[in-house]
Amino acid sequence: MSDAQRRQLDACFVNAYAKINVTLDILRRRDDGYHELITIMQTVDLYDTLCLTAAKDERVHLSCTVPELNTGDNLALRAAQVLRQRFVITRGVNIELVKRIPVAAGLGGGSSDAAAVLIALRQWWRLGISDAELFAVAAEIGSDVPFLLHGGLALCDGRGEQVTRLPPFWPASMRWLLLLKPALGLATADVFRGLSARDYSGGSHSRAVLAALRARQTPEPGHLHNSLERGVLEMYPQVAQARHDLLEAGAPLVRLSGSGPTLFAPFAALETAQQAQAQLQAQGYEVYLTHPIYPGEPAWRRN
Ligand code: C5P
Repeated sequence: MSDAQRRQLDACFVNAYAKINVTLDILRRRDDGYHELITIMQTVDLYDTLCLTAAKDERVHLSCTVPELNTGDNLALRAAQVLRQRFVITRGVNIELVKRIPVAAGLGGGSSDAAAVLIALRQWWRLGISDAELFAVAAEIGSDVPFLLHGGLALCDGRGEQVTRLPPFWPASMRWLLLLKPALGLATADVFRGLSARDYSGGSHSRAVLAALRARQTPEPGHLHNSLERGVLEMYPQVAQARHDLLEAGAPLVRLSGSGPTLFAPFAALETAQQAQAQLQAQGYEVYLTHPIYPGEPAWRRN
């Protein structure tokens, strides 16, 4: 069988994991319109699945379980197009995308789909590109995409695209994570626009959490800070209500993930997390029971 025939038979399945922002310190607005920030991110066990196959033509095709995401703006599609242009690839690809991560939720779903496409196509198309080049392409697609190439635990700064990977460590008191997605979607750009100077923090929260995690200690709850949280809670009463209900359901701590509206709440014990999840679901909330995860390489399968 020729290489070309073999490629026709191959399908690459890859999972794209969601992230939470353990901290998000926003330092200032930059001249280019982005914000300088320091954030600690961790991937969690909630994922989309992508299946890549060779296209019959030279184009990139996307088919997504959420019809509204079948657009030219989809970051998974854009990732494949950017790679094709940058490395003058004439091959086409079909991308099938099973969406499980809530959309416009602050969980990095679209960015993670893009990162998964970059990782998979580099391998599949045997692109001789360095990690540094892949990171540069990822940063072009979105600020969170470089982190999501590897996931795990990392400190990210700049506009979020400068990634320092951290050794895996997660406090036992935070072992289980409930993610509550209020019934609205937020555009990241809108949330950043709602920032005021009083929301800026110098980065001390992220640095304190970094020191704690490096020392394999539990961070102080007060340092699990998100500079975007005040504005989101003020602007969107639904999110404030959801936060209240999570606390009422027994969550010891509730924080906004990224630009929201998803809230995360860590629990030490599975039983308590499950009880809170059941109570909140009975109230009509969309709630996921997850835990931190360190993704491996994409799984390659043949049809
Ligand atoms: O980088 P990404 O495309 O994900 O960012 C989406 C929007 O969020 C940007 O256009 C910008 O308005 C805002 N943003 C920001 N500062 C950052 C990251 C994002 O202002 N560090």
